[in-house]
Amino acid sequence: MSDAQPRTSVLFVCLGNICRSPAAEGVFRRLVESEGLASALIVDSAGTSAHHVGEPADPRMRRAAEARGHELTSRSRQVEPADFARFDLLVAMDRQNQRDLEARDPGGGASIRLLSDFLDLEAQARRPVDVPDPYYGGAQGFEVVLDMIEEAAPGLLAHLKT
Ligand code: 4NP
Repeated sequence: MSDAQPRTSVLFVCLGNICRSPAAEGVFRRLVESEGLASALIVDSAGTSAHHVGEPADPRMRRAAEARGHELTSRSRQVEPADFARFDLLVAMDRQNQRDLEARDPGGGASIRLLSDFLDLEAQARRPVDVPDPYYGGAQGFEVVLDMIEEAAPGLLAHLKT
């Protein structure tokens, strides 16, 4: 007989699954592990597009994350219909990702939220609603991605604990 406890699961979603959502997965998993909750929470990421399937996170994103102690180990995969039933919470990086997820939701019952929903009020006042896509920009864009994710991660963890 299985003695496995129920696990809460969260899927981070961006467009390519090579920049923002792999960073969110890596940052959040590290927080979860540091809190001793690795066995209680499933953390994953995926993209709305299939353009980068199989690729590791963008080297610029990996370097910026590693400089802050976060290891990004994911390989890009596209969101699939089963994800809406397998995950309790889907966290979209921007409103376009959120709209794309809502349009594809076969009715699995997952909650589809924005990463910025989990910023505290002070951070919400000075951050954009959307995590800016860093792909075609400079190095600073990757730092902003990590800043927003690091700021939102504690609020997300608190949400999942309730
Ligand atoms: P991500 O960034 O959605 O944060 O993974 C992007 C990655 C690739 C592209 C756009 C955004 N692209 O156009 O290939």
